[in-house]
Amino acid sequence: MKKLDRKLFGDVCCWFKTFISIIVFLLAVAVAVFPFFIYYLTRSIPKLSSELTHRLPTTIIPSNYRLYIDSSQLEQFVFHGTVDIDIQINKIVNEIILNSFDLNITGVRYQQNDTDLFSYGTVEYDNVYEQIRLKFSHRINIGHGRVYLSFKGRINDQLHGFYRTKNHEHIGACTQFEAAYARRAFPCFDEPSFKANFSITIRAPKHLTTLCNMPIKSKHADDNNTYTYEFDSTPIMSTYLVAYVIGHYDYVETRDSDNVLIRVYTPIGKKEQGLFALTTAAKILPFYAEYFGIKYPLSKLDMIAIADFGSGAMENWGLITYRETYLLVDTHISTQKTRQEVALVVAHELAHQWFGNLVTMEWWNDLWLNEDNFASWIEFLAVDHVYPEYDIWTQFVSDTLATCMIPDALQSSHPIEVSIRKPSEIDEIFDDITYGKGSSVIRLLHAYIGNEAFRRGLSNYLAEYAYKNTITDNLWFHLSKASNRTHLSDVLSTWTKQIGYPLLMVNQEQRGNDRLLTIEQTRFLADGTRDDSLKWKIPINICTKSSPNSSVFQLYLNGEKKQEFLLKQVPDTEWIKLNLFSVGIYRVHYPQSMLEALTPGIQNHTLSPQDRFNIQTDVYALARAGHLGYVDYLKLLRYAYKYEDNLTVWKSIIRQLTELSSIFEYAQLNNTKILYQSYVCDLLSNIYNKIGWDALPNEDSQIPMLRSLILIYMGINAYDQTRIEAHKRFENFSMQNNDYHLINPNIRAAIYLTVAKTGNQQTFDQLKSLYLKADTQEERIRLLTALCRFDDEYFQRQALIFIWNTTAVRKQDHLTGFASLAQHNRQGCEMCWTYMQNNWNKIESIYGRHDSHLVHFIETVPGLFISKERAEEVQKFYTNYPNPYLERSVKKVLEQIRIRRLVLERHELSINEFLNVQ
Ligand code: BES
Ligand code: ZN
Repeated sequence: MKKLDRKLFGDVCCWFKTFISIIVFLLAVAVAVFPFFIYYLTRSIPKLSSELTHRLPTTIIPSNYRLYIDSSQLEQFVFHGTVDIDIQINKIVNEIILNSFDLNITGVRYQQNDTDLFSYGTVEYDNVYEQIRLKFSHRINIGHGRVYLSFKGRINDQLHGFYRTKNHEHIGACTQFEAAYARRAFPCFDEPSFKANFSITIRAPKHLTTLCNMPIKSKHADDNNTYTYEFDSTPIMSTYLVAYVIGHYDYVETRDSDNVLIRVYTPIGKKEQGLFALTTAAKILPFYAEYFGIKYPLSKLDMIAIADFGSGAMENWGLITYRETYLLVDTHISTQKTRQEVALVVAHELAHQWFGNLVTMEWWNDLWLNEDNFASWIEFLAVDHVYPEYDIWTQFVSDTLATCMIPDALQSSHPIEVSIRKPSEIDEIFDDITYGKGSSVIRLLHAYIGNEAFRRGLSNYLAEYAYKNTITDNLWFHLSKASNRTHLSDVLSTWTKQIGYPLLMVNQEQRGNDRLLTIEQTRFLADGTRDDSLKWKIPINICTKSSPNSSVFQLYLNGEKKQEFLLKQVPDTEWIKLNLFSVGIYRVHYPQSMLEALTPGIQNHTLSPQDRFNIQTDVYALARAGHLGYVDYLKLLRYAYKYEDNLTVWKSIIRQLTELSSIFEYAQLNNTKILYQSYVCDLLSNIYNKIGWDALPNEDSQIPMLRSLILIYMGINAYDQTRIEAHKRFENFSMQNNDYHLINPNIRAAIYLTVAKTGNQQTFDQLKSLYLKADTQEERIRLLTALCRFDDEYFQRQALIFIWNTTAVRKQDHLTGFASLAQHNRQGCEMCWTYMQNNWNKIESIYGRHDSHLVHFIETVPGLFISKERAEEVQKFYTNYPNPYLERSVKKVLEQIRIRRLVLERHELSINEFLNVQ
């Protein structure tokens, strides 16, 4: 034996012993941990099934779809189709799993690697997970292959999937696939990360317009009645962005400065109503191309108004769909508010063509930032660029920031980054908190790192992930890099991963020529409870009396509970204000002396409108939470805001006054309501007299909106002058055969609502007949809202019946009428609540059990109550109609009722006394 061999043998002996001892040791460990292992397994099994089986396996990846849809029988509400999907198989499998729901699969074949051999398969449906399993008699090997499927389906009436829409007698069909409804129109890998190319062919009746994401490549006549359209292949993209529409439409068109062909499709005979959106889009598309540093990648962009539309708008690549009221502008009938909304919605959906369509989130978790909230922020940037006269950023604070801060102060709120296990949960988090806080965090970030770094970071991010999927952290990475701030995601995560936002308790002390500021943070809760468990990293900008519109000090509260800051060179004659321009998402509690010092800056408007907004909105929230008296708030309004003239500030004040009057519907003292109404009318009298009823020459574009707001609110509060004038104008209008030119669209709502309030049968019939004859959805919504605003119970009942008359009121509009009736007064609210309790099964079946309309029904109606008994009814209602989707809303409503009750109990007496001595 060679020396070497012996040594080797000796080593083997030694190895053998070591091997045996390892085995013994492992066995001992296995015995010891076995129970834990079993526990772990059993514990994780349910988790696996509920969380992961909704997701498709990643062993099969689609790359290309050839989709054929035959909609030639759309009037019978049926369609059939075929889809061939090129797939790559990464592991040997014996079945192919993909998404499909409510479709009848009529044929299944599989072809491996372009061979001529086909295997025929069978299908198993899994309706819980909305999947199908294609089974074949043999295994499917690693490599490339193609699945061929044929299927049939119904063109449904549920406002998603492939659904029907009707305009007068014209029947059409269209798609709405986000978040997970493409699977209801064709079998597919329906998750955002399975991006692929789509070559779509549609057969449709000849007399209808047929549109798809891409331009038409070829068109041929099949018989006398139908055409088959073949469309260009799409870029690589997610299934939720596929779209097609078939129906009666007219259009207007233009080309933007990059030569993209833009069209706006409108109902027949109304193409002029598309012009405003068309010119807006033609300006915004190149603006984004420049801002993002990437051209819009398709050669055409269609935007279409769909008569039946569940949400507001949908960003399908190259074919954006809109609710009519968010796309059409009629020169005679539309208000300035409609124009502004159309501009914002168009800007929002165009932003998605990059943010969402080109670069897409990996999974719906990251939706809060990558998608809708980013779009909800940048829509303001784009509208400000195109229509600087709208002063749109000022309005951001009352329309977006304020609306998210109210629900985010509830215990039942949620962080904006939440985990999503299945697509149906997405709708649940699509609320004011997600949209509003998400876009407010981006506003904060943009202000913090500056526009240039922000733009550069974004554009690098988009370039790196174009045609791919990504996660939020990748955006943070690029923004951190572009701004040279490594701690960015640290700061941001305190806002995105934590629930709520902070309350800053501020104190100051003069130290010679310097000011010592002490700031302490706690979570702000609407019911006044103290919560010290959370802390935020807060950039704080401060302005002073001598520089009221610039950031004189930039402080940073580094997640500490309490911190002191010495502000140099601030003489005692200076006031200081935190949260310049209301960019931060926090409330400030100033000591009385600091607040009083700010009052002249509010009165003489040296403080910006956003800062005037900010001060009163914080004082209101503090009073509501019991940290201040409501009388302090009412006094502040009277002394500092009586001469206010800014739309944003008034919107906020009126939102608060409205809440207070809805609480006083339940006042214990019999004169509180009336005293309060006269306080309100007195507060608004100055602005009412200043802006009057008729447009003044060359007035700013916010004035018509301010006028409408003030007139409506004066009408609601039974202000005599408003009532008389509204009746006069309405009678004149009726006598002149309802000539629309007689009433400026901006004051139309105020007139309708005011005459309805004290109206009789004749008024009701008149408004109803105007509704039935109205030519635009915008006008119809105005009239529907007014029909629900009668004081008299008899007409309220008639309105309730009318709301649910399905031939007169579209499915998407029932809620608008219902909310209007509930918000009108206590009686209307109770009527609606009884109706909901008696008809909940019907309401659920109209919208489906996972539709966001249900959330709005729950949150708007019983959320207006006060008493414990009503709260118990809400609880009981949830027990009778359990639906996990509504769990959060029910908690929110119960909390809201409790807070409203606290306000009444804590403050009615002091408010009554204050109002009495006025
Ligand atoms: N992508 C959304 C619409 C959407 C979100 C549909 C989630 C289904 C599930 C679209 O971009 C959007 O945000 N639409 C808004 C209008 C927008 C202007 C804020 C809507 O529909 O409310
Ligand atoms: Zn969006």
